Amino acid sequence: MPKKISVTAEFEVFETKEELDPADKLLLDSAVKIMENAYAPYSGFLVGAAVLLENGQIVTGNNQENAAYPSGLCAERVAVFHASSQFPGVKPVAIAVSAKSSSQVLDRPVTPCGACRQSVSEYEVRFSSPIRIIMAGEKGPVYISKSVSDLLPLTFTSKHL
Ligand code: THU
Repeated sequence: MPKKISVTAEFEVFETKEELDPADKLLLDSAVKIMENAYAPYSGFLVGAAVLLENGQIVTGNNQENAAYPSGLCAERVAVFHASSQFPGVKPVAIAVSAKSSSQVLDRPVTPCGACRQSVSEYEVRFSSPIRIIMAGEKGPVYISKSVSDLLPLTFTSKHL
């Protein structure tokens, strides 16, 4: 019989945004605000992301779609790439993400897609420090992960190269 390993992850669950601590609420509010600038004419799914840097700076992004669908980019990657391009040596400590849809009221948190988890993970590894992920919908609960590695177990990293 092969040996088994098991992977577990814990997430904090807040019943509403109002229960967040003020710094997390501020970051989430930044994500919600920038969500309104999303360019999502094809999906009608607007996403905003806000990255908190160690120096207190907040850098935001939103999803940018394209008529050639795969050429678009998710909000989380726009935000982390924006942050790294503007403040290359400054450690990101948290990212908040929120979304709304033209087809339903989003009553559960939006969780980053696999490619965004991989992209955020790059900066955890780069700075050897966890990045908290704050995930919200339009209403309903907010989930917080203490590290992107909890969202992406057995991550491929530069250590494999
Ligand atoms: N999207 C994001 O920006 N972030 C996510 O976490 C999930 C999906 C975008 C990509 C696309 O523009 C639209 O939402 C629908 O998938």
